[in-house]
Amino acid sequence: MKTRSNLDLPMESSEWAQLIIDWFLENQRDLPWRRNPDPYWVWLSEVMLQQTQVKTVLPYFEKFIAAYPTVEDLAEAGEAEVLDLWTGLGYYRRARNLHKAAQIICRDFGGSLPRQIDDLLSLPGIGRYSAGAVLSIAYGQPQPVLDGNVKRVLSRYGAVQKPVPDLAFWKLLSEAVVLPSVARQISALNQGLMELGALVCTPRRPDCLSCPLRYSCRGHRLGIASALPKPKPRRKIVKETHTVIVIVRNHHFLMRRNEHGPFLKGFWEFPRLPGRFESSRTLIRKLDSELGLNVRLQTRVVEVRHQITFRRLTFVAVGAVLSSDPCDPRWKWLLRNQRRHPMSAYVRKVLSSDWE
Ligand code: ADE
Repeated sequence: MKTRSNLDLPMESSEWAQLIIDWFLENQRDLPWRRNPDPYWVWLSEVMLQQTQVKTVLPYFEKFIAAYPTVEDLAEAGEAEVLDLWTGLGYYRRARNLHKAAQIICRDFGGSLPRQIDDLLSLPGIGRYSAGAVLSIAYGQPQPVLDGNVKRVLSRYGAVQKPVPDLAFWKLLSEAVVLPSVARQISALNQGLMELGALVCTPRRPDCLSCPLRYSCRGHRLGIASALPKPKPRRKIVKETHTVIVIVRNHHFLMRRNEHGPFLKGFWEFPRLPGRFESSRTLIRKLDSELGLNVRLQTRVVEVRHQITFRRLTFVAVGAVLSSDPCDPRWKWLLRNQRRHPMSAYVRKVLSSDWE
């Protein structure tokens, strides 16, 4: 007997898929990587769109393509410069992986994104989702994509109430994409599923009356669409406060590259100590013992807030002057905008205050 999968949908795949394809062809947003679905453009857009909305991504995408029109240009750039162009998009591992992958593509694949799924999956930062997106959108191969948007659309369509492993979604989609009528329009189906999730079947207040699946959607019929999929418990937000010291000399600021993380690894930062210091004496002593800096504090204090993944950070920036030059050569004097020394958005926020 065939067991009923907990991912059973109201219509045959060829039917619901066709509704989505037709809807997408009529309603898609005009986006640069849709006008020109070049594999490099599609790859870059998909990497940027992970965790980030289209309207945020657009200016970054334009800037990136202008700076690095080809995979080869990206491969030849320095990592610091790539991170600098990424500043503000967050999740910097994406930029590092993109850069490394570009170098491998030039070294091993003649500068073109490979067409074999296993080759794509061997590249840093390319998982099943990105590989599926590049192969289907840029190369027209019948490969599925599954992201949060797609899961939400399908969970609501089937009124899926119990947790379903990703594998079940992948299996359903893998079977759908090889149906001949779907395979012929694979790019429209995959982008249509994501676009529907982004524009209509939105996390809160879905616009069910505009949805091409409205007549068969179980979630809509039962009036529970907006409550699906049931949220997974989220990683807890951690609040942290750090004290940073702003020392300026002839328009240059004293900074050091963060070598060890756990966040902002590879970025240039002010001298920073965890915590907030009520006593100036303690702060001065710690700056000496932990960072080798002898300072006199000034009265200027600025607070900035900045969230990095699950950390909600407050930076208390305190102005200071050096009593003696630092011995450690890793301390450098940097101007506000230095391409070769990528700085976090929090550093830029602090720098936007008047310290001179
Ligand atoms: N989100 C991520 N990738 C997308 C795409 N190709 N179209 C619409 N939304 C997306």
